[in-house]
Amino acid sequence: MPSATSDDWWRTAVIYQVYPRSFADSDGDGVGDLVGITQRLGALAELGVDAVWLSPFMTSPQRDAGYDVADYCDVDPLFGTLADFDALLARAHDLGLRVVVDLVPNHSSSEHPWFQAALAAGPGSPERARYLFRDGLGRDGELPPNNWRSVFGGPAWTRVPDGQWYLHLFDSSQPDFDWTNPWVGDRFREILRFWLDRGVDGFRVDVAHGMIKADGLPDYLPDPDGGSMGGDEPDVPYWAQDGVHAIYRDWRTVLEEYGPERVLIAEAWVRPLTKMAHWVRPDEMHQAFNFGYLETPWAATPLRAIIDDSLAAFGAVGAPSTWVLSNHDVIRHPSRLALVPPPPQGDGLGPMSPRKPDEVVGLRRGRAATAFMLALPGSAYVYQGEELGLPEVVELPDAARQDPTFFRTGGKLYGRDGCRVPIPWEAEAPAAGFSPSGESWLPQPESWGSYARDAQRGVPGSTLELYTAAIAARRAHRLATGDLEWLASAPDVLAFRSRELTIVANTGSTPVPLPAGEIVVASGPVGEGLLPGDTTVWIR
Ligand code: GLC
Repeated sequence: MPSATSDDWWRTAVIYQVYPRSFADSDGDGVGDLVGITQRLGALAELGVDAVWLSPFMTSPQRDAGYDVADYCDVDPLFGTLADFDALLARAHDLGLRVVVDLVPNHSSSEHPWFQAALAAGPGSPERARYLFRDGLGRDGELPPNNWRSVFGGPAWTRVPDGQWYLHLFDSSQPDFDWTNPWVGDRFREILRFWLDRGVDGFRVDVAHGMIKADGLPDYLPDPDGGSMGGDEPDVPYWAQDGVHAIYRDWRTVLEEYGPERVLIAEAWVRPLTKMAHWVRPDEMHQAFNFGYLETPWAATPLRAIIDDSLAAFGAVGAPSTWVLSNHDVIRHPSRLALVPPPPQGDGLGPMSPRKPDEVVGLRRGRAATAFMLALPGSAYVYQGEELGLPEVVELPDAARQDPTFFRTGGKLYGRDGCRVPIPWEAEAPAAGFSPSGESWLPQPESWGSYARDAQRGVPGSTLELYTAAIAARRAHRLATGDLEWLASAPDVLAFRSRELTIVANTGSTPVPLPAGEIVVASGPVGEGLLPGDTTVWIR
């Protein structure tokens, strides 16, 4: 793997995901905002990350927490103004942090003026042709045009008063664009330029495997119970269609006009990895989230297999592999890894879940998993709050929940609110430092203060110190461009050599002999010559 220069900073980057509504609230309304992020960027520089990815902060009715955009080129008043964004970007760049923004091209909000115009203009109009309107089936068109299901549960079609139906792979407030209409591509090229001109370093592209649907929108048989983001089933007519690649080749040329340092990152739930690698061919995107890795249990054999497959598949197209354990859509990894097998994506956890994670086991395993991930060659993602060791919040009352998944499945799936609870900064402050008024759009658990940043900063053995030390050591030892060489090990143990370090992870529960040498990073206490279960060490 080539060593990274500033042009290809992304090959080695640790990228920190900020979920704006839950990061830091400056004005006390209980929802995080851009000024709050700017005020707290110093903490991210101190953590040592290279870049920040901001989940959507654009104008939105917030039916899907901002992934329903009503104006792609403005900031939602909930989060601030474009001037606040410019100030955030300037501060980040001063601190040496790159900034990647979220782009949501598969669908807009139903409140977007384009969709409102489509509703007003009626069947057959050019305005409707920007979205996927169709006549229904049945005698009076009373049946949806096909049997597709929304990822959030329920049908993927909603009928409008004149009788036509529109497609929404997600919530009914998120109508899908028709990407075969060149008008849509023209608008998104303008949107890319709008943010590139402001100075952003790249885009995380939402649902980058969904924008093109199979010709004729054929039924998908067998009719699944509910939607999924794809990955498991082959040949779904709305996921991973070949036509998406022309869009990214086009976008890549737009980015290149701004020089080699701006990046495109795919959220593409595609299997197998050899197919996902198509998203990051040299003339398409720069990198893609490795969800196969995220979904791998904490166990030596499957981890080794997914790492080998990832390095081979991405390496074959000249792209770095990425590694990710948590984000705003999945159960926080300490809690997820404490459950064997993990609950499926989207299910979430709640008061009535049949299995509840053990917080102590989860934290130990989560720390070991992160220490292992940060030693792997390539680029790694960290989701806000994982550097504090936050667990999934399980005991959220139904009345507080906001994820459309919860409502569209009639509460059968808890959805994703448990990983979105505003994060704690200062143990003794109102809302644990999240908001000066003590407000918090999702209630924080009583125990949140014990995870606060100020309770961990400078405290030996804290999760924050582990993350900080591992990120620094990863850079100092240039592990992101290292060559991974597996070493023989006991069945539950993973051991590899990269540069001058030996990385050993014990995924089992029985202590194993610890190789001799100086310990550079340890995810937990290490005994005399023994590596306990659920622990990772880096040894020189
Ligand atoms: C992506 C986002 C998720 C959102 C969905 C629809 O998967 O990560 O949060 O709900 O797209 O935009």
